[in-house]
Amino acid sequence: MKQTTRFGLTFTLENNRLKESRAKSETAQDSAKAVTKSQPAPQESDISAAEQDNLSQLLGELEHLVGLTKVKELVREIRAYVEISRRRAQFNLKSDNLVLHMIFYGNPGTGKTTVARILGKMLAELKVLPKGHLIEVERADLVGEFIGHTAQKCREQIKKAMGGILFIDEAYSLARGGEKDFGKEAIDTLVKAMEDYKTEIIVILAGYEKEMERFLRTNPGLRSRFPIHLHFPDYNSEELLEIAHLMVTERQYQLSVGAAEYLRHYLEEQLEAKQANFSNARLVRNIVEKAIRRQALRLVNRRLYSRDELMLLRREDVKQIAEEDEDNFWQT
Ligand SMILES: Nc1ncnc2c1ncn2[C@@H]1O[C@H](COP(=O)(O)OP(=O)(O)O)[C@@H](O)[C@H]1O
Ligand SMILES: [Mg+2]
Repeated sequence: MKQTTRFGLTFTLENNRLKESRAKSETAQDSAKAVTKSQPAPQESDISAAEQDNLSQLLGELEHLVGLTKVKELVREIRAYVEISRRRAQFNLKSDNLVLHMIFYGNPGTGKTTVARILGKMLAELKVLPKGHLIEVERADLVGEFIGHTAQKCREQIKKAMGGILFIDEAYSLARGGEKDFGKEAIDTLVKAMEDYKTEIIVILAGYEKEMERFLRTNPGLRSRFPIHLHFPDYNSEELLEIAHLMVTERQYQLSVGAAEYLRHYLEEQLEAKQANFSNARLVRNIVEKAIRRQALRLVNRRLYSRDELMLLRREDVKQIAEEDEDNFWQT
């Protein structure tokens, strides 16, 4: 069964567990009868109250992220859809297997890994995945250097990800080197694992939008195996500053007015001169973490200090970092 959502997302439903429960239904007529009987649907759901609590907490975590409106909406859709599919199965309504392999398009630091991690936990609560943990890999973890090496490397990573999500960052690089490259073997091995362990592993391919689109064009068989596509746009300066505030608050620090002002200005400048490797929220995280170390250095030899001072990141703490050698900066 195919269903197109508001964002043009196409779900292909295929879930063995749902199939099992469907097999239990005796005839189509029985199912029709079951539908007409009114039953208290929500209570019928086999998600316990504790699991609902965990789900709400995970959705809260998602909401807490700055921006990402469409991503959030799509994740809510996936969650609702999975849950309703399960309830439908309880009423013997038609539902095929859920295919939840995904492609995440977006630049570095746009929240792809963060969202994948939340999704994994969510799908575990919904019992779509046994464990829901996330194993993040890249080309070097999957592609070997001699015959047989690639299959072995892939198997190792698949084994680690079993029960959860295998997140392949910069997945387009698997196609690097063309036909003779071992990357192709890695793709084939992954596709086979997706078939063999349909209900135990979800594969997410992530990477820059253009590169991922090119990758899918050169591997046309792949697109249909990954029915869910999420786009992670770059953050604007407002959002980046909000992320900075969130990050410092989480660490029990705060930005002085001057520090926030300086940071806003700096981020606007960076956005204007945006480089290809602009790292969005990761850039902010680097600034915050370095500013915290600068503040420590500024305060460490003082004999008198207050609680407020221990919390405050001043303009000078942020400023010094921003003025550091940029090459150095991007890499850390
Ligand atoms: N929308 C957001 N709100 C708050 N923090 C964010 C947001 N997006 C990313 N971050 C933070 O930025 C850092 C990089 O995010 P990450 O998910 O690793 O990005 P990606 O996988 O796209 O490179 C992480 O510390 C993450 O918590
Ligand atoms: Mg990542």
